[in-house]
Amino acid sequence: MTRTDVRFASVSALEILDSRGNPTVQVTLGTAEGLRYVAGVPSGASTGSREAVELRDGDPARYDGRGVSRAVGHVEGEITDLLERKTWSCQAELDDALVELDGTPDKGRLGANAILGVSMAAARAFAEGLPLWESLIPRGVTPRLPVPHFNVLNGGVHAANDLEFQEFMLAPIGAPSFSEALRAGATIYHRLRAELRDRGESTGLGDEGGFAPDISSPEEILWLMVAAIRDAGYTPGRDGVAIAMDPASSEFHKDGVYTVAGEALNADQLIDRYEQIITDFPVWSLEDGLAEDDWAGWKTLTERLGGRVQLVGDDLFVTNPALIAQAVRNGIGNSALIKPNQIGTVTETLRAQAVCRHAGYSQMVSHRSGETTDTFIADLSVATGTGQIKSGAPARGERVAKYDRLLEIERSSVSLPFGL
Ligand code: PGA
Ligand code: ZN
Repeated sequence: MTRTDVRFASVSALEILDSRGNPTVQVTLGTAEGLRYVAGVPSGASTGSREAVELRDGDPARYDGRGVSRAVGHVEGEITDLLERKTWSCQAELDDALVELDGTPDKGRLGANAILGVSMAAARAFAEGLPLWESLIPRGVTPRLPVPHFNVLNGGVHAANDLEFQEFMLAPIGAPSFSEALRAGATIYHRLRAELRDRGESTGLGDEGGFAPDISSPEEILWLMVAAIRDAGYTPGRDGVAIAMDPASSEFHKDGVYTVAGEALNADQLIDRYEQIITDFPVWSLEDGLAEDDWAGWKTLTERLGGRVQLVGDDLFVTNPALIAQAVRNGIGNSALIKPNQIGTVTETLRAQAVCRHAGYSQMVSHRSGETTDTFIADLSVATGTGQIKSGAPARGERVAKYDRLLEIERSSVSLPFGL
C-alpha cells in the first residue's frame, strides 16, 4: 500500500545541470516526519512540437537563455503554497491539483519541468516504505523487467556527424535475464568501438553515449552493428540481439521531403527504404519513422509495415493520452514511447500507458537526451510491465544509472519476469 496521508513540510527546488551542461530542475520535498524526497527532470533535444512546455528563462545573460530560475521560482512560490495547504491522499489528487493550478493546456505557465519535478518527488513520498516500482503498479498489471534498448550509434541532433538517423539500438530480446541483456549490450558496445577504431573511424560519443562516426548511410551503420553482435558471440535477431532504430524523422523532414544521406525522399520512398532495411537487417522496432505532422504517411507506414515491425510514436504522440487515443482510432502506429516530461505529471504518464494497454499498443519507457542521474524511469518501466526501456548506451553515468537501478530491482525481486 502506498501512503494516503502525505503532509509536506518543506519544498525546495534547485537549478542543476543536465548531462549536456544545460540547466534543469531538481525538486526536494520534505514531509512532516522529516523525510526527504528528491527528483531530477530530464530535457530533450529532438522534442515534439506538442510536448508540455519546458519553461526556460529566455534571459540571454544567463546560460544563453536556457536558465530555469523561473521554473524553480514557481516550485518555491505558488506550488509550495499549494502543497503545504493540506494532507494529500494520493498521486492523482496531487497531480490534478498541479494541473489545475497551472491552468493552461500545455503547462506553459508554471512549466512542465517545475510540475514534473514535484510530481516525481511526490511519487517517492507516497511510496515511502515500498520500493518505488511496487508503489507505481497499476491495477491489473503484472510488473516485469524490461528489455534494455542500448543506443550505441548516435546521429541526428544528438551528434555532430552527417548521419540523419538519430538512434541505432541493440535490443537483447533473446537474453534470459535483465543482467544477461546488460552484459550483451556492454560486450557488443566494446566490440563496436574496436571495429570503428580498426576502420579508422572516430570513436567519439554523441549525447546518449553511443558512438558518432562520420558515416551517413543507415545501412552501413546496420552492417557494423550486425558484425559487432556476431563478433561478440551473439546471434543477430529476435532470438538473440535485435536492433531498434529511431530515425527521429521530424528533424530531417521539410515540406514533405525527407533528406537521407543526400537523397531527397517522399514518404512512400522512405517507407520503401525501411521495408528493404527490415528485410535485410534484424530490425524489430522503428520509432518516428515518419514526421510528427505526416499522419497520412504514418497511415501508409502502418498499413505496409505494421504487421512486421513495432512502429513507435514519440514526437507523434508525446506521451499524450488524447493523441494516443486519436491514433488508435485512426490505425496509426502500434506502439508508444513513454517519456514523463513530455506530458508533465506521473499521473498523466500512467494514463497514457493505460490507453496503450487497452488498445493493445506496446510501450517503450524512455529517457531524454539531456538526463540527470535520477532513475525514476527504471522503476516506472518495471511497474507498468512494458517490457521495454531505452536509456542510451551502456556507458556514461546518467545512462547507466537507470540500467544499474534495474540490476538492483532484479537482484531484490528474483521472481519478476523479464522481457517482452
Ligand atoms: P530527445 O531524443 O530526448 O532529444 O527528444 C530522444 C528521442 O527522440 O527518442
Ligand atoms: Zn524518439
